[in-house]
Amino acid sequence: MHPHLVVPNSEVQNTIDILTAEGWMGENLRIHASPDRETRLIPLSIQAPQALPPPLDEFPITITLGIVEDRKRPSWLQLLRDMIGEPLVEKHRKSWPSSHELVGDMMILKVEEPVREFQSQIIRSKMAANPNIRLILEDRGVKGEHRVRDLHPIGVRENGKVAPVLEGTKYPTKVVTKESGHQIVCDPTLAYYSTRLQTERITTAVEARKLSETIGTGINVADPFCGVGPALAHLVNTHGLVSSILASDLNPEAIKLLNENLSKWIGMPSDPEITGIREWKKGVWSGVANAEDLLELGIPIGFWNLLIINLPHKFIDFLPLLLPLLDSSKPFVVRGRLVCGNGEIEDVRSLISDYFPNGSDIVVDPRSEYSPNTKLCSVTIRTFAPIE
Ligand SMILES: C[S@@+](CC[C@H](N)C(=O)[O-])C[C@H]1O[C@@H](n2cnc3c(N)ncnc32)[C@H](O)[C@@H]1O
Repeated sequence: MHPHLVVPNSEVQNTIDILTAEGWMGENLRIHASPDRETRLIPLSIQAPQALPPPLDEFPITITLGIVEDRKRPSWLQLLRDMIGEPLVEKHRKSWPSSHELVGDMMILKVEEPVREFQSQIIRSKMAANPNIRLILEDRGVKGEHRVRDLHPIGVRENGKVAPVLEGTKYPTKVVTKESGHQIVCDPTLAYYSTRLQTERITTAVEARKLSETIGTGINVADPFCGVGPALAHLVNTHGLVSSILASDLNPEAIKLLNENLSKWIGMPSDPEITGIREWKKGVWSGVANAEDLLELGIPIGFWNLLIINLPHKFIDFLPLLLPLLDSSKPFVVRGRLVCGNGEIEDVRSLISDYFPNGSDIVVDPRSEYSPNTKLCSVTIRTFAPIE
């Protein structure tokens, strides 16, 4: 018996995209029609959380017999087995890169040391199982204050032939990816971007819609750690939801890609040579800025209704610095992520609550292990009454 998400036929493709990006799709089991054929049953992996976030929380979960995938193309692990034999696959059972991230036509994965000697077989089997992938990049973790992932090309498909990459060879890594139907230009070797945060962004969009309904107008959104702008993709592409945006980041490469995205999404005029912060068109500010200096850069203060703080290590440091941006005469929302010690969630929640009026709704929701002693949490702060 296996958990399956029960999804109306019209929502199936979007749901598959989100589950695949998050690594929550059950492997080796088939998506199949429910007995009444009104819905489809999508198998969930053991990594999927028991309480799924929006928009997946709209769909019921049913525990039912899984139907084993009998697809013509074998799985990458099956291909690996054919190459190196079952005993070796079994010996390193815990070290194989069972999950990977797909960004455009690139695959990003981690190679653990015990299986490094099988890198070429990993590349060939992953490429064979994923025929649309052009480039495989090894992820050696995020580095520096720009939080860019240290990515190294390790395998390429050229003219239909798969080959390992010679150390130091460069390949194009600027690609277009899609989230909820919105196209996002990104280059994960130059600026932080992860498909895994898609459900966080969808949750932010749900909060934004509720806030806009409460206030009764389009909202002003400040995203001072915006990267290439994926959170904004879910907001500015919804008609009437957003009145003004502030999108800034410390990384000039992120801002070049962000400006390209904003030009496509809202027709913002932009100049790839200019990355300094400016109001490109009425109500649209973007540019390079250290969030520490944001209040001194001539952008409106006491004006924004939704503040996004996506810098998990420094959320608590930046929160008080950025609060003056918010229009405290109206309801407002802060959304973000933070890292905190396993036993510290209640303390962190209490620390945050000191900055907000009584009655504010403060949710610190642990979403995944960050390290053996810390958790990565999703944060939502809703304030209804004005700050004193
Ligand atoms: C975890 S990434 C999030 C990017 C983006 N919001 C997303 O979800 O893809 C954090 C971003 O904060 C930026 N950053 C780090 N320190 C900063 C600072 N002091 N001021 C502004 N941006 C900063 C990094 O360059 C990076 O793009």
